[in-house]
Amino acid sequence: MDLEYYLKRLWQDYSALNPEAPQIYDLLVQAGENVDNDHIALRTFRHPQLGVMSAVRQFEKWGYELAKQDYVFKEKKLYARHLEHPNPRFPKIFISELETEKMSPFVSETLAQLASQIPAGASERPEFFVSGRPWPMTYATYLNLAKESEYASWVAAFGFRPNHFTVSVNGLKRFRDLATLNSFLKGKGFSLNQSGGEIKGSTADYLEQSSTMAPEVPVQFSEGIFSIPGCYYEFAKRYPLPNGKLFSAFVAQSADKIFESTNKRKS
Ligand code: NI
Repeated sequence: MDLEYYLKRLWQDYSALNPEAPQIYDLLVQAGENVDNDHIALRTFRHPQLGVMSAVRQFEKWGYELAKQDYVFKEKKLYARHLEHPNPRFPKIFISELETEKMSPFVSETLAQLASQIPAGASERPEFFVSGRPWPMTYATYLNLAKESEYASWVAAFGFRPNHFTVSVNGLKRFRDLATLNSFLKGKGFSLNQSGGEIKGSTADYLEQSSTMAPEVPVQFSEGIFSIPGCYYEFAKRYPLPNGKLFSAFVAQSADKIFESTNKRKS
């Protein structure tokens, strides 16, 4: 498998969990756009074989390089890193992990018990992030995890697969800014994440982002099939730094709100 093919498999796996993503992709292509990905985001939890640095090592096998910055999300108890590929045509990879040791005994013990069911060596395979959920899961456990951390419940329910893809708005011709793109998407009936405002970040941050709310998808649990929020589609516009180079990192304050795109909608 080469990287191109692996990214295609990540997109296929993700599209199956977010039917809106291929719809939006097609709408943009029909509007004459060339849709490139800014980044792909993955979720995991702190564990010797599953944590963010273990995931980083998988992507280094694909030629990716770890960027220096790290990102801390104090309230959500998350830590994240990102990787860039020397070939800029490949999307950045953003990997976050839940800081398991900061969670309640229930959450940390549940996640440790899930991790113990992963076959040895499985998480070292470079294509680990299309492997899905490697453990059985009850809907009751999913709901209990969600009470403390929607992030923990998402990983428990979906396992290891892309959480979101992100369209590079810099690569679009007709939808040159997020406001224009957002009103197009809302006009087509898609719901956008409003937490912290529809557009997260500003030109002062050198990065603006918005995202859909993850639509609910049917998931098999031990008790039966239940619909829960799956994956969302994100949109990012980057601005040049004073040195003229396009900002290539992430803004923790914005990402913090974007994480909520997989929360259950309160209606
Ligand atoms: Ni993102």
